This record gives sequence, C-alpha cells and structure tokens, in this order.
Amino acid sequence: MNAIEITGLCKQFSGKRKTKVNALKGLDLTIETGEVFGFLGPNGAGKSTTIKCLMGLIRPTSGTATILGEPIGSDASRVRVGYLPENPAFYDYLTAEEYLQFVGRVFKMPEALLNRRSEETLKQLELWDARKRQIRSYSKGMVQRVGLAQVLLHDPELYILDEPMSGLDPLGRALVKEIILDLKKRGKSVFFSTHITDDVEKVCDRVGVINKGQLLVVESVDTILQRGVEGYTVLVMNADGKQEELLIGKADLQVFIEHTVKNRQSIEKIEPRRKDMEAFFLEIVAR
Ligand SMILES: Nc1ncnc2c1ncn2[C@@H]1O[C@H](COP(=O)(O)OP(=O)(O)OP(=O)(O)O)[C@@H](O)[C@H]1O
Ligand SMILES: [Mg+2]
Repeated sequence: MNAIEITGLCKQFSGKRKTKVNALKGLDLTIETGEVFGFLGPNGAGKSTTIKCLMGLIRPTSGTATILGEPIGSDASRVRVGYLPENPAFYDYLTAEEYLQFVGRVFKMPEALLNRRSEETLKQLELWDARKRQIRSYSKGMVQRVGLAQVLLHDPELYILDEPMSGLDPLGRALVKEIILDLKKRGKSVFFSTHITDDVEKVCDRVGVINKGQLLVVESVDTILQRGVEGYTVLVMNADGKQEELLIGKADLQVFIEHTVKNRQSIEKIEPRRKDMEAFFLEIVAR
C-alpha cells in the first residue's frame, strides 16, 4: 500500500466577480510508504491547496486521492496522519502542555501514553521550559514548534507537513531536518512542502516540482545531484611536493587520472562540482 495516491486532482477556486482560479490542474502523484518526499514550488504553485485537499479541509473540484489506502475526507484517512498546517493557529490561551493534552484526547490516546509522549515531544522541540506558559506569549518560532509537537504526539505513520521549516531559526531548521531523518529511519512516510531547496537536498528521497497547479517533474534527489555534476575539482601533489588544484571536465576525468599516475604525481582529493538543487529548481520553473 502506498502512503499517498493522487489521481487527476483538480481544484478551481471562485474569485471575485466570477473569476476562476485553477489552483490544481490534474495532479497525479504517488508517495511510497517509508519515503521522504519534498513538494517544491514557488509561492502560489498549489502546494497548500494539494495538502488541504489531502486532509479533507477543502474538496477537490475533480480527481481522487487516498491516504494509507483510505479515501481522502474520511476519518480513517486522517487518524494515522500527523498534519502541520501552513499557518498553524492554536487556542492560544492554553499552554503548550494543555494544548497537547487536548490533541491527545482528540486522538483518543490512553492517559499514561499521552503524558509520556507529551513530555517527550515538548523536550524534543525544546518547549519544555515554556510548557506552562500560554501559547499567546510564544514567539513565532515557538508557535511553529508547538505545531510540530502536535504532529509528533500520537506517533502517526504518515506526516503531511506544509512548510515545516518556515519561521524557524537555523537551529530550529536543523532540528526539523533531524526529526524528519529520524522518522525516516523508523520507517515513517513524510510528505512536506517547501520552497527552500536546501531542505529538500538534505532530507528527501524524491522531490516533485509544482508550478501553476501542474507537476513539472518528479525525480530522486540522488539522480538530480548526479546529473548536476559538471566537472571535478582535483587536488594534485606534484613531484616537488607542491599542491595544485585543477578543474577537470566531466568527460576528462579518466584520462586525467591515468596521466597523473603515469607522471608519478599523487591525487590528494577529487570533489565533484555540481549544480545544486537550487539551480535545478530555478531551471525547471523557468522552463
Ligand atoms: N480560498 C481560495 N480562494 C481563491 N483562490 C485561492 C484560495 N486558496 C488558494 N487560492 C489560489 O490558488 C493558488 C495556489 O495557492 P496555494 O496556497 O496552494 O499555493 P502555495 O503553493 O501553497 O503557495 P505558498 O508557497 O505561497 O504557500 C494561488 O493562485 C492562490 O491565490
Ligand atoms: Mg502554501
């Protein structure tokens, strides 16, 4: 069974004065169980619209989708999912601890488990010291962390996260990446949207690029990075002991190595020079 299956998903919004916005134009996408998938696209591409359709918050105009084999919109499709909305809003007169108690009861968690998981997630997201303060007194990044804590609380199988790194400082971003990698290690599936290519490069198995409601490519991150290799930086030690750094074209590496060995020079380091995910993303969207 796949984690997510989306078939021909379309969403049309009605704007002012009878204008229509086609936010999704026939999206087809499958996310396998156990994979981390980055849903990459510029502002207004349709990422949140896709995610809201998956969570049953808005209804697609046409098309279908399933989550862990259950049709979207059903209770069964939501219960094994952790969802982080784009702009999480909480009952902000509650403290983080009270809020997690509320979430745990919604998920019908037994009390002992809920208390244990609440402590674990508050500590994991560095909210433990602030747990008895009202959420309304939290900074933006702290509110985002409450959102992530509520996602992790019931230890779901699938995580659907709408820009999980947004609003976080570098430490917070690193923490989220670490959390995602840990989920992957534990066999969970993660589908998250972002427009930050670096996030995708570090944690995803595959990436899908969406623009103007259409999926432009779906590719494995390894393939993208491999294909992006343009050449190599090679550090050579000459016979006189001096080091020299050279730029070698992709096609010339083999010949270069043979030549260097023949001349009894030693190669100290070979590093691929590659286009990064950012370049790939800009190229795809521009095309
Ligand atoms: N409720 C709505 N009514 C009308 N148009 C909408 C509505 N929600 C979204 N849209 C439009 O649908 C398109 C896709 O929006 P969406 O929020 O899915 O983009 P996004 O990829 O999440 O962008 P961002 O990176 O800015 O969050 C945009 O053109 C947006 O204006
Ligand atoms: Mg969005």
